[in-house]
Amino acid sequence: MLGLAKKTADEFEAKFGYAPTGVWSAPGRVNIIGEHTDYNEGFVLPIAINRATYAAIALREDDTARVASTFSDAVVELNIAQLGEASGWAAYPLGVAHVLGASKGFDLFIDSDVPVGAGLSSSAAIECAVALGLDELLGLGNDRRALARIGQRAENEVVGAPTGIMDQSASLLGKVDHAVFLDCQSLEVENVALGFAAAALEVVIIDTRVAHRLNDGGYAARRAACEAAAKAFEVPSLRHLSLETLEAGRELVDDVTYRRARHIITENDRVLSFVAALKLGDFKRCGELMVQSHVSMRDDFEISVDELDTAVETSMRHGAVGARMTGGGFGGASIALCPIEKISDLTNSVYAEFELLGYARPDIFTVNAADGATRQI
Ligand code: GLA
Repeated sequence: MLGLAKKTADEFEAKFGYAPTGVWSAPGRVNIIGEHTDYNEGFVLPIAINRATYAAIALREDDTARVASTFSDAVVELNIAQLGEASGWAAYPLGVAHVLGASKGFDLFIDSDVPVGAGLSSSAAIECAVALGLDELLGLGNDRRALARIGQRAENEVVGAPTGIMDQSASLLGKVDHAVFLDCQSLEVENVALGFAAAALEVVIIDTRVAHRLNDGGYAARRAACEAAAKAFEVPSLRHLSLETLEAGRELVDDVTYRRARHIITENDRVLSFVAALKLGDFKRCGELMVQSHVSMRDDFEISVDELDTAVETSMRHGAVGARMTGGGFGGASIALCPIEKISDLTNSVYAEFELLGYARPDIFTVNAADGATRQI
């Protein structure tokens, strides 16, 4: 959207007193299926969405990095030697500059229409917009896969969230009306046509407003359980463990670790089945797999919350073909694949159910699969 790109350029100029060299945008993402599989070298199927973060950037002649945004009134200013020490929201953009090894100072302004804390990867959108822009201005020549890795490293090493490669890959490699089918072991990508519009289906997001965070323990605990299971079965990652071997060696791990591993193994299978069903236009099967994925996250991986379960169950009762929580879990959003003519019934029913149960009013909207990060101005 050029409107927000122009606005970000204007905000840059108002803050720093001169025009930026360029404005880069990177979309948020919604994961259609394949949750917590990325750091287990498994399969994921996200889409880049038509909500994006915009980064207006100019290089400076000195060693100062300044970053401002619409998230906060403060201008964060650091020497480029200290970029790795950035904290709070500034850790995302400055962490990227740190991992890129920025050799020059820069001014940066960030604006976004990706909702924060909804599980739509507002953080990866910041990382990818900044990575693409700084890489170009500094003439570093990293390709998009390398930039995805750089965004992930910023999040792991500077922000301190032990996340995988999915979000940055979706934001950089997304394609309009296609999903990003990513093998997180080989990092091979296939853009798979969704065919939702031709089938009169839309992706509805239900942001529960239950704030989720990826750096406060639950996410890391899930990752640790997966690593413990892989270690117990002497495989490099859960990608290399079959359900049969897990069942046969059940006594090697405690019940919780067993269920964590079972989620990952069955979820990988569901991604592959979903892609096959998508290619056949079998949306009924796609929907069943989404619901199975949700149940597995609720019962085996235990990352859902009541609001997400309610959103999924209500969506399914009111016309959705499939529904599941999406993203890291412990709050955030659910998605529903819904026939267009049933969206208003679904939406009103979810509002009503949330009100009845005394939950905060959710934010409900549709998204489309969009292209990945790009230079706007
Ligand atoms: C977050 C992380 C991703 C991925 C998902 C769960 O979005 O950033 O790397 O692990 O959670 O699928």
